[in-house]
Amino acid sequence: MKTISTITKMTAPPSTAYKIVDVPEAYADVIKLHGIPGTFVGSSELESPWVPFGPNAAIRHLHFDTRHNIFGNILWMKSAGVIGTHKHRGTVVMICLEGSARYLEYDWVAGPGGFIYETPGLVHTLVSDHPNGVKLFGWLQGPLEFYDDKGNFVETVDVWWFINHYESYCREHGIPINKQLYL
Ligand SMILES: [Fe+2]
Repeated sequence: MKTISTITKMTAPPSTAYKIVDVPEAYADVIKLHGIPGTFVGSSELESPWVPFGPNAAIRHLHFDTRHNIFGNILWMKSAGVIGTHKHRGTVVMICLEGSARYLEYDWVAGPGGFIYETPGLVHTLVSDHPNGVKLFGWLQGPLEFYDDKGNFVETVDVWWFINHYESYCREHGIPINKQLYL
């Protein structure tokens, strides 16, 4: 029997037509009724400001999914420094946008374009050795537990913490809450 690789047969995306195309959908009405629209958050600070996170860092919140305790943001460490030791209770996907970062516990360094995947149960300490620090986009699922330098539990941060972090800053600075952040 002759087998043909679906990869070599794959021709999509074939279009050069610059147009919106209607495609068949058996459950269009159901999707219209129950589906959740996607979202977009532009790059301006009015759409989502940099919210201070300690003296040397800030977080730009991008999405809050309260159904799944998932939150997306950019973490900005403004110079070389440390974000405290923490334990993950869920999965994290991160991409380094600028600068560099690493974990004291591992032997790699993430530069621009570097991809980081973290799994439940991991405990580590984020540092940047770069003079300009680091910007990390993160998609985080589930809570993180932060510990002090003696291993004492300090605080749990989850989607509710992140929403409160964003909203309290907006309230204090007269910035409208951007509904596009809430999935
Ligand atoms: Fe982490």
